[in-house]
Amino acid sequence: VIERLHGREVLDSRGNPTVEVDVYAKYLGRVVLAARSSAPSGASTGSNEARELRDGDKRYGGKGTQKAAHNVDTILSPALAGKGFCSLKELDEKIIEVDGTELKEKVGGNASTATSFALAESAAALGEKQLFEYLACQYYGGCDAKPKKFKLPTPFFNILNGGKHAGGKLKVQEFMVCPGVGIAFPDGLRIVAEVYQKLGGILTAKCGVSARNVGDEGGFAPNLDTPEQALSFIEEAIKAAGYTPGKECCIGMDAAASEFYHKDTKKYEIEEGVFKTGDEMITYWEELLKKHPAICSIEDGLDEKDYEHWVKLEARIGSKCQIVGDDLLTTNWRTIEKAIAGKWCNALLLKVNQIGTITEAFRAARLMLEKGYKVMVSHRSGETCNSVIADIAVAIGAQSIKTGSTARGERIQKYTRLLQIYEYLKEHDMLEC
Ligand code: PGA
Ligand code: ZN
Repeated sequence: VIERLHGREVLDSRGNPTVEVDVYAKYLGRVVLAARSSAPSGASTGSNEARELRDGDKRYGGKGTQKAAHNVDTILSPALAGKGFCSLKELDEKIIEVDGTELKEKVGGNASTATSFALAESAAALGEKQLFEYLACQYYGGCDAKPKKFKLPTPFFNILNGGKHAGGKLKVQEFMVCPGVGIAFPDGLRIVAEVYQKLGGILTAKCGVSARNVGDEGGFAPNLDTPEQALSFIEEAIKAAGYTPGKECCIGMDAAASEFYHKDTKKYEIEEGVFKTGDEMITYWEELLKKHPAICSIEDGLDEKDYEHWVKLEARIGSKCQIVGDDLLTTNWRTIEKAIAGKWCNALLLKVNQIGTITEAFRAARLMLEKGYKVMVSHRSGETCNSVIADIAVAIGAQSIKTGSTARGERIQKYTRLLQIYEYLKEHDMLEC
């Protein structure tokens, strides 16, 4: 039974405040700290995301989270105290009810996300269950309904950072590398880590030592001009590590195109001073796929509200490539219903803090997966060392996960958790091959 919750202001990996929540529970006649969890925070956020509550005063340039932390103690704690842990849906619905707004404007999406995470982690800890197993019971609506075997998601590692996550001219935000089909998780992790080190060497040799400084998600942040340059360095690194692009190693991109879309002219500034219309962007992506057939996934290739061109892009290249909606969908089931009906894309980027509770994110995932679309679970560019998203990805059977490069602790923690889950699944004959 939940005794009380406590929120506190802590820092994220970018040095900005976020919210951490402690859950105290009555367990075997004593009050124990059952779990402690925290919310991540994005930089290239979609306009329809759950609202992070920030203090807006002098502290931390207005980014303080003392109000959000206080809301955990004064609003969420009294609403949840006395409840049992068995149904996360019931607990999350209580959060939704006391907040009363679609985008968590009252308690703050940072407070609600950290609370939802901490409640799930508490339930798993007190029930002596693996977190992914507890979450699977919740996702499938009962432990009897969950699968007997689980698979690990394909990891997409963001090894070269641009856009808002780096300080250079490169407009496309993320260049990711993923292991090819059928490669076991530990081998995939090793392959990409080898490629990452080769890329660092190549960038140093060709662009100077400062090119191997890293961006927000642990990928290198060289000051390149074009996506083409980034892709050719990455392909060179894959080969230098002894692999073949498109075989052991494929490439994914997140353009985060809303960040370089000019609303007034309706043009995309894909490179500094190079402007393209929506139709020209579609041709651009199509040509890029032809030149670089190792590309298997493109996220937010267009502005979050440019629906007309999303539909055209999906029709043109959706059969060859995963077309992922991040800012487009913001993990919001209402938007996803429209996206499915309108054929906007074929995959969802799932970020719990875009909607504010695990239960609502599950609803979004279910809509996509039941219709045969794909789900990629995602970290944020501002993270903590919490690894709940690894468990979420395994629990729901997500096809992929992206959680940064093979460097920086807050990114690695998620991959480490996946290694732990992999080992557990093997030991218990629960690994689906
Ligand atoms: P964000 O970036 O966390 O800054 O939004 C991640 C993404 O765009 O996928
Ligand atoms: Zn994105």
